[in-house]
Amino acid sequence: MSEQKDTILSVQHVSKLYGMNKAEAAKMMEAGSNKDEVYKKTGVTVALWDVNLEIPRGKIFVIIGLSGSGKSTVVRCFNRLNKPTSGKVLFEGQDLAEMDKKQLLEFRRNKISMVFQSFGLMSHRDVLGNVAYGLEVKGMSRAEREEKAKKVISMVGLEGWEHQSCGQLSGGMRQRVGIARALANDPEVLLMDEPFSALDPLVRRDMQFELLQIQRKLQKTVVFITHDMDEAFKLGDMVAIMRDGKVVQVDTPEGMSANPADDYVRDFTGSADKSKVTTVRNIMITPSSLVRLSESPALAIQEMRKNALSTVYVVDDRLCLVGILTIQDAIRAQKDGLAIAQVVRREVQTTAMDALVADIMPVAAEAPYPIAVVDEDGQLKGIVTKASVLSALL
Ligand SMILES: Nc1ncnc2c1ncn2[C@@H]1O[C@H](COP(=O)(O)OP(=O)(O)OP(=O)(O)O)[C@@H](O)[C@H]1O
Ligand SMILES: [Mg+2]
Repeated sequence: MSEQKDTILSVQHVSKLYGMNKAEAAKMMEAGSNKDEVYKKTGVTVALWDVNLEIPRGKIFVIIGLSGSGKSTVVRCFNRLNKPTSGKVLFEGQDLAEMDKKQLLEFRRNKISMVFQSFGLMSHRDVLGNVAYGLEVKGMSRAEREEKAKKVISMVGLEGWEHQSCGQLSGGMRQRVGIARALANDPEVLLMDEPFSALDPLVRRDMQFELLQIQRKLQKTVVFITHDMDEAFKLGDMVAIMRDGKVVQVDTPEGMSANPADDYVRDFTGSADKSKVTTVRNIMITPSSLVRLSESPALAIQEMRKNALSTVYVVDDRLCLVGILTIQDAIRAQKDGLAIAQVVRREVQTTAMDALVADIMPVAAEAPYPIAVVDEDGQLKGIVTKASVLSALL
C-alpha cells in the first residue's frame, strides 16, 4: 500500500519570463534552446521554465542551486509576490491566481510567512514589538499578542531579550527575531530564502540546529532556500536542485547523493560531506555472533573461537544489549567459576540507527570496540566498526 500523499503546495508547469518578447522566448525553450541562447537572441530572461514541485505538508523542503538558477523566483511564487508567466501554484488545492485581493491578504497573513536573508526588522522597535507586529496588524489585543510573542521568543532562545532594541542585536540574534516574527502568526508554511547565509559558520550551525528542533516540534511546512549543499542535506527531508530555471532532481538527501540525476547534481552532491548524509543504518553490520547473558563462559569462548572474534556482544533474553565480553574476561570467568554477568563490560558505546556518521566519527575513532546500534528499547540492531565508518566516507 502506498503512503497517502499530503501535498500542501503544488507547483504545476510554472514558467516565469522577464522581458518583452516572451512568446518567441517560449518557442525557443520549447524547441530545446537553453536560457543563455534565449537571452542572447531575444533579450528575455527565463527565470523559471516548466517547474513542477510537490511540497509535502509538515516537512522541510530545501531548494538548492547556483546563483541565478531561479530559487528566489520560485519561492516568491508561493506567496504570490511573483506571478507566474504560465502555470499554476496551488495551496491545499486552491489556485493562488484565483484568489481575490482579500483572500490573498488573508492567505499571506494566516497561512504563509516569509523569513528573509536581510532580516527586514524594524530597528526602532524592540524584540517584542517586532515579533508581535504581525499580530498587531491583525488587530489582536495588546495583552494577547504580547503573550503569544513571548512564547515564540522563548522558543527561538531569546528569552530575556524582549525589550532590547533590534538595532543592537548581532546577526544571529536578529535572524532569531525574524524567525520568531514569522512563527508568531502561526502560519502553516514558512518560506525561508537563504536565511542563514549572512551568518558566520558557527552561528549558522546553531541556527540550523534550532530550526530543526522548532520544525520537529511544531511540524510546520518549511520551504528553505540555500546554495550550501551541507545545509541542504542537514535540513532537508526532500531536496530539489535547480539549474537555469529548471528543476533537475527532487529526492531525499540520501537518494540524491546515491543516485545523482546528472553531472550537475553530482558536482553539487560531491561538494557535500558524505558523513553528514549517511546514517548509521546504512553502514551498520549484523554481528557475526551474540552471546546470551545466561549462557556459560565456556559456550561464549567456543562461539568466539569459531568466529575468530576477540570480543562479542552480550544480550539478555529480549535481545537487549547488556555489554561486551572479551575473550580474556571469558577465559578468566571460566577459570574462576564466574558467570558472564560478573565479567561483562557494561560501559559500551551505543548509537541510534538514525544518527549521522559524522556524529559518531569522533567516538568511533576512540572506541576500543565496535559501537553497538540500539533502538529505543535497547535492543541490539547491529554494530558499527571503525572500518565501516571509514569506508562510508569514500
Ligand atoms: N525582476 C527581474 N527582472 C529581470 N530578471 C530577473 C528579475 N528577477 C530575477 N531575474 C532573473 O531571473 C533569474 C533567476 O533569479 P533568482 O533571483 O530567482 O535566482 P536565485 O536562484 O535566487 O539566485 P541567488 O542565489 O543569487 O539568490 C536570474 O537570471 C535573474 O537575473
Ligand atoms: Mg535568491
